[in-house]
Amino acid sequence: MSLLKGFDPEIYEAIRLETERLEYKLELIASENMVSETVLEAVGSVLTNKYAEGYPGRRYYGGCEYVDIAERLAIERAKELFGCDHVNVQPHSGSQANMAVYFSALKPGDTIMGMDLSHGGHLSHGSPVNFSGQFFNVVFYGVSKQDQRIDMDQVMDLAKKHRPAMIVVGASAYPRTIDFAPFREVADTVGAKIMVDIAHIAGLVVAGLHPNPVPVAEFVTTTTHKTLRGPRGGVIMCREEFAKAIDKMVFPGIQGGPLMHIIAAKAVSFKEALSPDFKAYQGQIVKNARELAGALTDRGYELVSGGTDTHLILVDLTEKGITGKEAEEALVKAGITVNKNTIPFETRSPFVTSGIRIGVPAVTTRGMKEAEMRLIADLIDRGIKVREDEQALSKIKGEVKELCLSFPFYGERLKTIHA
Ligand SMILES: Cc1ncc(COP(=O)(O)O)c(C=O)c1O
Repeated sequence: MSLLKGFDPEIYEAIRLETERLEYKLELIASENMVSETVLEAVGSVLTNKYAEGYPGRRYYGGCEYVDIAERLAIERAKELFGCDHVNVQPHSGSQANMAVYFSALKPGDTIMGMDLSHGGHLSHGSPVNFSGQFFNVVFYGVSKQDQRIDMDQVMDLAKKHRPAMIVVGASAYPRTIDFAPFREVADTVGAKIMVDIAHIAGLVVAGLHPNPVPVAEFVTTTTHKTLRGPRGGVIMCREEFAKAIDKMVFPGIQGGPLMHIIAAKAVSFKEALSPDFKAYQGQIVKNARELAGALTDRGYELVSGGTDTHLILVDLTEKGITGKEAEEALVKAGITVNKNTIPFETRSPFVTSGIRIGVPAVTTRGMKEAEMRLIADLIDRGIKVREDEQALSKIKGEVKELCLSFPFYGERLKTIHA
């Protein structure tokens, strides 16, 4: 009998339902994944109790000798994974990691250049509704109209015109490989620093399936919970010369005590990421995304940039006469979780949008391969076509559950939950 079930049945029920949702539905949110039982064990450990302000060996509290072991391991493993000089594993999230970089390297009012949100950028890259757009003067670059890939001529022109102190590279909804070297050239031309945010593609980078920005960027940030398949959190990597400033900015600059249970879980996920299995997993992600992209194209769907090199696909639904919101809502009813997403040169509001973003990290984690991607393309297509027919959507939901039952992931956990 679970302690939680007895003490707090409402929260217990929410967790049970969420476990079932993950197990019986297709999780295609590009920024999500499903972590291992080992990562979950560390997340749920007693390390959550410990206050450990400071860094290993120099804390502001006693009793940190064991959490120091965890943080040192997380740091060493991250260094090995990414080949960087210095790592800070304490940021609570990707946004916090970005904040620490900006605040350590810039002054309020400085100019930064980031990718336009509607072209695939992230809120923390300068959006006016985010701290990054409020503290700094922001200039946005984007993709070209012709091929929907990053327009490096525009990046160079804007940089020469606005002389940014920092160029932010990286995205949340960009399906193509990013070549970092040309950004270095632009930054060197105007004397800017570079921060590359690899939150989405970190797993691909580790596996050598996407270029690693560490050699060309002063700062690299990532989340740990997307393709990297760790607990929710952030990491900052930087050159040695910036190490002190970064560490001081994370703590005491913008955060208090680190989340030691999460840092331990980061270390566990980094150990997983160092294994040959992880490389194979990332390879399968890329194969799956390509297969799904091809199968959707065959069904007449327009993909932003015509396809994908990564773990995600951005579908432009304009020609299909349906909004991203309508597609997301219909697919949720069919047991398929995707998110509505703006597309480059978007004409609709972010609450409606003309696209959906589809990612394969979670379904690949549970073992699905190319054959299942073709099935998923068919389920998505049918879901969109029958969007107004509740009964037909419910039938698809049944098929989705059948498919998911063949790829159990949290099955043992569910058995315990139902006990
Ligand atoms: C590129 C990028 N950077 C940063 C973040 C922010 O991460 P978090 O939600 O952990 O703050 C995201 C989240 O989706 C992201 O896609």
